Amino acid sequence: MTNGATRAVLVTGASSGIGNATARYLAERGCLVYGTVRSEKAAAELRAIPSVVPVRCDVTKADEIASAVRAVTEAGRGLYGLVNNAGLGELGMISTWTDAELYHMFDVNVFGPFRMTNAFLPLLLEAKGRIVNIGSQGGMLSKNYYGPYTMTKHALESYTETLRVELEPYGVLASVVQPGGVATNIGAASHAGTVARFQRAQPPFREEAQQILGFLTAPAPEPSTAEEVAADNVAAESETNRKPSSPAIVAEAVYDALFSPAPRLRYLVGTRWEGDRVLNALVAKLLDENANPKHDYSRDELVALLDRHIAARGAGAN
Ligand SMILES: NC(=O)c1ccc[n+]([C@@H]2O[C@H](COP(=O)([O-])OP(=O)(O)OC[C@H]3O[C@@H](n4cnc5c(N)ncnc54)[C@H](OP(=O)(O)O)[C@@H]3O)[C@@H](O)[C@H]2O)c1
Repeated sequence: MTNGATRAVLVTGASSGIGNATARYLAERGCLVYGTVRSEKAAAELRAIPSVVPVRCDVTKADEIASAVRAVTEAGRGLYGLVNNAGLGELGMISTWTDAELYHMFDVNVFGPFRMTNAFLPLLLEAKGRIVNIGSQGGMLSKNYYGPYTMTKHALESYTETLRVELEPYGVLASVVQPGGVATNIGAASHAGTVARFQRAQPPFREEAQQILGFLTAPAPEPSTAEEVAADNVAAESETNRKPSSPAIVAEAVYDALFSPAPRLRYLVGTRWEGDRVLNALVAKLLDENANPKHDYSRDELVALLDRHIAARGAGAN
């Protein structure tokens, strides 16, 4: 792996969670990190970290993006890496979303990376650099109550593939990192909007929404006993017993996407249980596509198809 020392990388949404962990991780490994923030408090916190420079920027605001480009350009270190991390994680039954809420979700999660990438592209082309989009396993599968979130992350998948094929001939490589559940501020940041949408549910969805609201608004549970914590630690992960990962594992994948000589297009990050869930969803999609009267491979043909792709990877395709 190439040493990231002296490279300049911009991370959006560096005030908390994955963005903050990534900014620290990159700075500790020698990068100059520009971390975008939206408040003076967050800027002051970043300023205290060696080799991290806060940059005020809301990814939905063209004027703030333009001044971020000016600040980075004037700093004179160019820009090797752009990590499009800033994002919202609001939930709710699909019928309860307003146009404005859906638009805002896309504005931050999809148009944000699109605007930032276009704005910084001249610097990235000059550096023959890298773009890393923080997607989600929700870019590969869909789930009740996660609709708009997974819609934005599916869009980010396609966007990243487009960047990869269009920019690779010009020396810039794009990747998408797809975390599963990560322990961050995302749930708290989206709580009010999520609760409002479940409260808005109309018949016949109201009863189901009330059940979800019961979980969402329940008082914090009593602290677990040591025995309960131990039992929970050994219990297998499941839909109702999730084991969120540390943001550090996302930062590691981002580092590889930035500095590996051959970065992957996709980095699936998370627990084994989550990985199984994604692969099962992809196989189910493959079989849906194959359940087509005019185009259906037999089992043997499907296995041969898989073998051909595995062989092509072995030969260096990605
Ligand atoms: N946590 C997970 O389980 C998980 C799983 C898969 C993918 N992800 C993805 O990881 C990324 C980071 O999420 P996180 O979990 O670290 O959440 P987080 O702790 O809530 O951090 C989100 C960051 O995005 C910033 N942000 C929000 N709206 C913005 C805007 N309009 N312009 C600029 N910055 C904005 C926030 O800044 P403020 O502090 O100013 O609000 C914050 O720094 C997101 O793209 C998310 O979809 C998270």
